[in-house]
Amino acid sequence: MASASYESRRGELTTYFDRTAVEAWSRLTSDAPVSRIRATVRAGRDAMRATLLSWLPTDMTGLRLLDAGCGTGALSVEAARRGAEVVAIDVSPTLVDLARERLPAIPGPGGIDFRVGDMLDPGLGRFDHVVAMDSLIHYRAADIARALAVLGARTDGSVLFTVAPRTALLTVMHAAGKFFPRGDRSPAIVPVTEGGLRRRMSSERALDGFAWAGSHRINSGFYLSNAIALTRSSPPPSAGEGTLRSRGGEGQRDVAGLGSERDLFGTVAPLSRPLLTQGPPSPAEGGGGAAATGVRS
Ligand SMILES: C[S@@+](CC[C@H](N)C(=O)[O-])C[C@H]1O[C@@H](n2cnc3c(N)ncnc32)[C@H](O)[C@@H]1O
Repeated sequence: MASASYESRRGELTTYFDRTAVEAWSRLTSDAPVSRIRATVRAGRDAMRATLLSWLPTDMTGLRLLDAGCGTGALSVEAARRGAEVVAIDVSPTLVDLARERLPAIPGPGGIDFRVGDMLDPGLGRFDHVVAMDSLIHYRAADIARALAVLGARTDGSVLFTVAPRTALLTVMHAAGKFFPRGDRSPAIVPVTEGGLRRRMSSERALDGFAWAGSHRINSGFYLSNAIALTRSSPPPSAGEGTLRSRGGEGQRDVAGLGSERDLFGTVAPLSRPLLTQGPPSPAEGGGGAAATGVRS
């Protein structure tokens, strides 16, 4: 069951993405000219989408993908072009309408089933892959972990998501946020440290069968976001053993560095090191610094 903080934040996000920021969001996600600051956000988001897509199979024929918090649907379109059966859901009816309007012809077997609602709705069924691009960044770490557990429980392949890393740099960006018109400001982004998030995730039993396969940071002007890949390990670890695991002998790694031409699942090494034996992340990896906001949506 979703927590009160998750539900209240979801309500704020619905108001923001369905009313306050529809115009700005529609423009940002189009080819229309935007300010220099927003151009950096657009470039960062394009790079993030490309990263997440590079972690998915190139041929997704017959695979079900959940685009959790799909916005105007750009990632859904790319997955459907690879043959995926996409369920694209968002709490904003206006953005889902926009996504439907923008939907190009999809040649081949793929398609998109657009829905309005909560990404955690159990009625959505099972998936091979789930992607939550910048849709969990406004939730508290505990709610992110819970959401990942709910999503993971219905996923057979991977859960790919992004978080706002807690870094000193974000403090500066947070201060710069005052330059945005008040009406355009999104509900606060909640930066998280990798260590803190991993700790929360390790207490979610539904994530026992998942490995932390890697992460990749996109840093583009006013856009700063970490992509994280969880992949279902087989067989799942037995009770009492380390739960969420990292790739053997390695901590946080740039999964995209494995080669964007290859999908993640052909390249992940056997998993051996329990989550909680990892040291804390270095400041460069988001382990230090004060809370701040990063992505101005
Ligand atoms: C920053 S936008 C990103 C949209 C899209 N993933 C993209 O990258 O273009 C975040 C989206 O998540 C949606 N969202 C937030 N919480 C949600 C929830 N609990 N269920 C479904 N959608 C949600 C918002 O309405 C918004 O459209």
